[in-house]
Amino acid sequence: MSAPLIDPFARAITYLRVSVTDRCDFRCVYCMSEHMTFLPKKELLTLEELDRMCSTFIHLGVQKLRITGGEPLVRRDIMTFFRAMSRHLDSGALKELTVTTNGSQLERFAADLYAAGVRRVNISLDTLDQDKFAAITRWGRLDQVLRGVDAAQKAGLRVKINAVALKGFNEDELPAITDWCGQRGMDLTWIEVMPMGDLGNESRLDQYWSLKDVRARYEDHYTVTDLAERTGGPARYVRLEETGQKIGFITPLSHNFCESCNRVRLTCTGQLFMCLGQEDMADLRAPLREHPNSEVPLEHAIRAAIALKPEGHDFDYSRQRADGQMSRHMSHTGG
Ligand code: GTP
Ligand code: 5AD
Ligand code: SF4
Repeated sequence: MSAPLIDPFARAITYLRVSVTDRCDFRCVYCMSEHMTFLPKKELLTLEELDRMCSTFIHLGVQKLRITGGEPLVRRDIMTFFRAMSRHLDSGALKELTVTTNGSQLERFAADLYAAGVRRVNISLDTLDQDKFAAITRWGRLDQVLRGVDAAQKAGLRVKINAVALKGFNEDELPAITDWCGQRGMDLTWIEVMPMGDLGNESRLDQYWSLKDVRARYEDHYTVTDLAERTGGPARYVRLEETGQKIGFITPLSHNFCESCNRVRLTCTGQLFMCLGQEDMADLRAPLREHPNSEVPLEHAIRAAIALKPEGHDFDYSRQRADGQMSRHMSHTGG
């Protein structure tokens, strides 16, 4: 392995999130607009190019690879890519290969993911109510996702449920979602909604439910103990002592965690975004495509990009919408 990737704030970059497609079979309202136009295929990195990109990052010290989208499991032949990446697990260079998914395709792919070395999956699920699920995803079917959750557990994958905390939408479901995860031995992580995407007349501020309030809701009913343990991502965890259940909080707004950031994001077109909440990016597709037989120019481009990683995001609901909001959709960088 060559010298590790260290950014200007002395943070080691060991976690790469890779969006393998901008497409999704759902249209969660906080993630995509209803009529998204998707990229033409030729813009996308091929599976071979994705392999070269990821392998180069691993050579530069990345130890954790999270495959996202859009919905990563709708990309054609994506299992070929997972299987190819498993060689880095076998060599010990990669510590974790994992995926963030909406769960809709898991019934079909859970066993293949396990066979490729995936041991943990994060499934996005904001509600257990069929009608609300159809509304938030614009047309998704809850039963399909629940079958996916079952399939993942049956295949031996450890499941974490990601729920975006949305005021007036899933506040009332906090006990039900918590119990459902607890009964199935799944961790649950709540995420504060971030001001991204094309909102029209909506404002994410109206939907913003601070996780300080979520935590207070738990404290009304449980003894809540902070845990030191981390999973390499931004979540901080607590344990509910009465049930032993673990709950995560991802709080980009109420408690900025940028000081310990260890990750960058690769889009399906080969752009490297240095921060979810900033526009700083570098094109890695050109050095990759222009040099089919050498990864040296790509390595240089990656190092040059990391040298420009900003200190943190500046999402801020206290400012005017036009300032605090990003036009980029979450589906572009995969969260
Ligand atoms: P593990 O800790 O490995 O379970 O994963 P993770 O929390 O890093 O990954 P996951 O895909 O479950 O991330 C959940 C969500 O957290 C993402 O979709 C984003 O919404 C948010 N998130 C992850 N990383 C960052 C980050 O660097 N900055 C901000 N603002 N949000 C992030
Ligand atoms: N704010 C917070 N989380 C978001 N996600 C998508 N858009 C947003 C947003 N605006 C989450 C999804 C999924 C993950 C990939 O990102 O719910 O869990
Ligand atoms: Fe699809 Fe996930 Fe975005 Fe929902 S949040 S539209 S499931 S990529």
